[in-house]
Amino acid sequence: MSDNNHHCVIIGIAGASASGKSLIASTIYKELKEKVGDHQIGVITEDRYYRDQSHLSMEERVKTNYDHPQALDHDLLCEHLEALVAGQPADVPVYSYSEHTRMGETTTMTPKKVIILEGILLLTDPRLRNLIHASVFMDTPLDICLLRRMKRDVAERGRTMDSVMEQYQKTVRPMFMQFIEPSKQYADIIVPRGGKNRIAIDVLKAHIARLLKA
Ligand code: CTP
Repeated sequence: MSDNNHHCVIIGIAGASASGKSLIASTIYKELKEKVGDHQIGVITEDRYYRDQSHLSMEERVKTNYDHPQALDHDLLCEHLEALVAGQPADVPVYSYSEHTRMGETTTMTPKKVIILEGILLLTDPRLRNLIHASVFMDTPLDICLLRRMKRDVAERGRTMDSVMEQYQKTVRPMFMQFIEPSKQYADIIVPRGGKNRIAIDVLKAHIARLLKA
């Protein structure tokens, strides 16, 4: 199945939690799908690569700092990206936010012409920066991110308002300041306001089209 001439463009979208990474990624995905073909574009979220914690109790899992680079298995993510670039499929782990661990199953991603990678800590890792062809940093104001995160984590990730506030103060905000914000220096494009920024979406789509032609 290996195809060493497989041409694959990887776009990396980083930024704070709830900054609109998944919105901009899914918009580009939907709009480019029609152009490059249904099976030629895919989205990988860094969250899928949170480490397996099935050996830990629920009380222990809750204590993990999920905003520190150590919480993520970037070795596996790099391995999968390298396989996809080489024209081989990758078995992407399935992660549960409410269980705080990997589920037993995986989903297979077949090689693509375009892979949109999104995640908070992507640009902190030189190996990932090296694999990414164009990088984006979502520069959404932190107060807007916090409001979105409170709503989302209660509605979709099985959290209470108190737990969201405590986690934000203890780890989410400090890790943003220590790791995520400084990684903005590695971005090719900095997107203000959020995932609905139409001009940013169009610029990215045009750039991807150019990379595909090159
Ligand atoms: N996280 C968590 N519990 C876990 C695993 C991760 O609370 N068991 C949180 C981390 O604190 C981290 C966040 O998940 O801050 C990463 O996801 P986020 O970037 O918020 O979600 P996306 O949908 O990928 O991005 P966006 O909200 O920007 O669209």
